[in-house]
Amino acid sequence: MNTVLTMRGIVKDFPGVRALDHVDLEVRAGEVHCLLGQNGAGKSTLIKILAGADNPDAGELSWQGRPVRLSGPAAATKLGIATIYQELDLCDGLDIAENIFLGHEHARAGFTRRVSTARAATALLERLGHGELRPDTLVGTLPAAAKQVVSMARALSYDARLIVMDEPSAALGNDEVSNLFRIIDQLRADGVAVVYISHRLDEIRAIGDRITVLKDGRTVAAGLPARTTGTTQIVALMTGNGAVATLTHQAPTRSDTEVLRVTELGLAGRFHDLSFTVHAGEIVGLAGLVGAGRSEVLETIYGARRPSAGQILVDGRRIRPGSTTAAVAAGLGLAPEERKSQGLFLLESVGRNVSAASLPRYSRFGWFDRRRQRADTGDLLARVGVRPADPDYPVRGLSGGNQQKAVLARWLLDDCRVLLLDEPTRGVDVGARADVYAQVRRLAERGVAVLMVSSDLPELLGLADRVLVLRDGEIIHTAPAADLTEQDIVAMIMEGSAL
Ligand SMILES: Nc1ncnc2c1ncn2[C@@H]1O[C@H](COP(=O)(O)OP(=O)(O)OP(=O)(O)O)[C@@H](O)[C@H]1O
Ligand SMILES: [Mg+2]
Repeated sequence: MNTVLTMRGIVKDFPGVRALDHVDLEVRAGEVHCLLGQNGAGKSTLIKILAGADNPDAGELSWQGRPVRLSGPAAATKLGIATIYQELDLCDGLDIAENIFLGHEHARAGFTRRVSTARAATALLERLGHGELRPDTLVGTLPAAAKQVVSMARALSYDARLIVMDEPSAALGNDEVSNLFRIIDQLRADGVAVVYISHRLDEIRAIGDRITVLKDGRTVAAGLPARTTGTTQIVALMTGNGAVATLTHQAPTRSDTEVLRVTELGLAGRFHDLSFTVHAGEIVGLAGLVGAGRSEVLETIYGARRPSAGQILVDGRRIRPGSTTAAVAAGLGLAPEERKSQGLFLLESVGRNVSAASLPRYSRFGWFDRRRQRADTGDLLARVGVRPADPDYPVRGLSGGNQQKAVLARWLLDDCRVLLLDEPTRGVDVGARADVYAQVRRLAERGVAVLMVSSDLPELLGLADRVLVLRDGEIIHTAPAADLTEQDIVAMIMEGSAL
C-alpha cells in the first residue's frame, strides 16, 4: 500500500515542556492508523501540526512522497487533510450547512447558493447516516454527538484523503460508535486514510489496522498490527510498565443516611416521574443511551435546568428548583460532560480552577490561607494524576485528558454532600483511570453521595453500587451493579426489555 503521509523528527516546545521530541509517523492510503499514548503524550499536538494549525520547531513532513510545509490550516485542507478535533471547533451561532461549508461556500450568490448549500449538506449528512439533521438547524442547539457528525460532514465536503479524528468516540454512546465505525469502514474502502486517536483499546481492535504509540513526546512503537498486538504490550509501551487498570468491585460504603432524594422529577419533553434516592457513601450509576436524557437529569438536579414537575431534597430539605445557587448552597456539585464550555475557566491557572469551589474553606477571619490552598491543590493534582501537577500551569495548556482530571479534582477538593459526575473518565487514559476511580471511591468512603453517568459499561458496573436504567424518559430498572452484566444493560437500553 502506498504511503500518503510521513512525518519525521517532529519537535514542538511549549514554555517549560517539550511536547514532541522527534516524533515519526507514517500513514498509508486506505488504513486506519491508531495513535495511542497517555494523557499529555503529545497526540493532539502532533495532529495540530498535521492540520497546519501549529508550527513544528523542527522536523519534516511529506505528503504523497513530496516534502511539504504547511503554512496554515488552509494549506493542509488544500492537500486533502481534514481534522476533527477533540474539542470540536464549530461555530455555535451558524447553522449546520454554514458550518459544513465554512471557508469554501458554494460559489453562486444569494438564494440559489443557500438552496444548493443546503442540498449538498443534506447529501453529506445522509452519507453519514444522519439524514434526519436539518441543514438550517443552529449548531449551538445540537447535542455533542450531532455536532461531531457535522464536523465529519465538513471533512467529507473537502474530499479529504486523510481524516484525523481526535477521540471521536468520546462524545458518543455505543450505538453511535457503531455508526461511526460504519462510516470509517466506508472511508477505508474509498482509499481514505484515517488517523484515529482513542483511549479505548476495544475500539482500536475493532477498527484499527496499525498502531503508533507515543510516550512523553516520543514515538516508542510505529506501525504495530492493531488486532494482534497484545494489550499488555500496548499498555507497557504507553506507560513504561504493564499494569492494566482493572476495576475490581469494592465493598459498598453505603450508609443508612439518605442524602439525595428525587421525587417524581420531570423535565418537559425529556423525562418524567423520576424517583430515586442516593445514600451517604453510595455510588449510583445512571445508564442509558446518549440522548436518553442522562445529562439533563444531572443538570436538573444541579439547578441548571428548571424541572416541570417534582422535588429534589438534600438531607431531607427541599431545594429551590432551577437555581444552581440554591443547589450549591445545599451541597451539590456537578462535574459536567463538556468540560471546555461548562467546567473550566480556560484563561486561569489550574490551581485557581481547582480551588474555585472551595475558597471559603481557606478563608478565616477575613484572612486567606493561600499557602495551604496551594499545597492542598498541588497534592490533589498529583493524586488524580494531572500532568504537570503544577497549580500555576494555565488550564489552556493542559492536554484534553488532563483538563478532565482537573475538573474532577475541583470537586474532590470541595466538601460537597452530593457529587454529580457526567462521564468522569471521558478522555482519561487507561493508566490514569484507576486514579480517578480511587478518588471517587474515597469520596464515597467519606460519606459523599455520588450520582454518575457513564457510557463506559465496565466503568459503570465496576464503580457504581447500584444502577438505574433510563430509557424513553423513565427509569425502567434499578438493581445492584453486582447483579447486572454489560449484556443486561445493553439489552435494556437498546430494546427496553427488562430482565
Ligand atoms: N498551548 C499549550 N501551551 C502549553 N503547553 C501545552 C499546550 N498544548 C499542549 N501542551 C502540553 O503539551 C503536552 C502534550 O499535550 P497534548 O494535548 O498533545 O497531549 P495528548 O496526547 O493529546 O493528551 P490527551 O490524551 O490528554 O488528549 C502536554 O504536556 C501539554 O500540557
Ligand atoms: Mg489530546
